Amino acid sequence: MKTLICYASVHHGNTKKIAEAMAAATGADCVPVKDVKPDMIAGADLVGFGSGIYFSMHHRSLLDAVATLPKVNGKRAFIFSTAGFPAGKFVFHRALKKKLADRGFEIAGEFACKGLDTYAIFGKLGGINKGHPDERDIQNARKFAKGLAKM
Ligand SMILES: Cc1cc2nc3c(=O)[nH]c(=O)nc-3n(C[C@H](O)[C@H](O)[C@H](O)COP(=O)(O)O)c2cc1C
Repeated sequence: MKTLICYASVHHGNTKKIAEAMAAATGADCVPVKDVKPDMIAGADLVGFGSGIYFSMHHRSLLDAVATLPKVNGKRAFIFSTAGFPAGKFVFHRALKKKLADRGFEIAGEFACKGLDTYAIFGKLGGINKGHPDERDIQNARKFAKGLAKM
């Protein structure tokens, strides 16, 4: 099973840490979304898409890249994110989920964890979720990705 992980990580590199941990656990290729080419998607059986959450959705660069992907026919995909408030994933993941469905992907799972957030007032307070993603978050991410890559 060939897995590809595409990510955007622009605030603190939080999502990059998660993407790389998932890739190492599954033997996946791990590529910043700006470098993803259609043939990489075509060659994968499972594709992960993730970024930090910005104003209640994935990063614009990831959403825009997904919107331009060639159509697939039920290829398995998963969504991941890091966020100040990851409990909001059911709302935050909606926009990406819809774009992936429009391109013909089948969503096999979703993962979210805390990421250091120093945006606006949180920065003035010294940031929230200091130290995240931490070892436990990374362990959970590995377990999640391995579970999907096995299926
Ligand atoms: C401009 C901006 C907007 C953000 N909006 C949200 C948000 O709506 N909800 C949330 O939970 N976190 C929000 N965050 C926090 C980020 O999602 C969090 O820090 C994430 O881990 C960043 O990932 P990255 O370092 O991989 O880019 C925001 C951060 C920034 C800088």
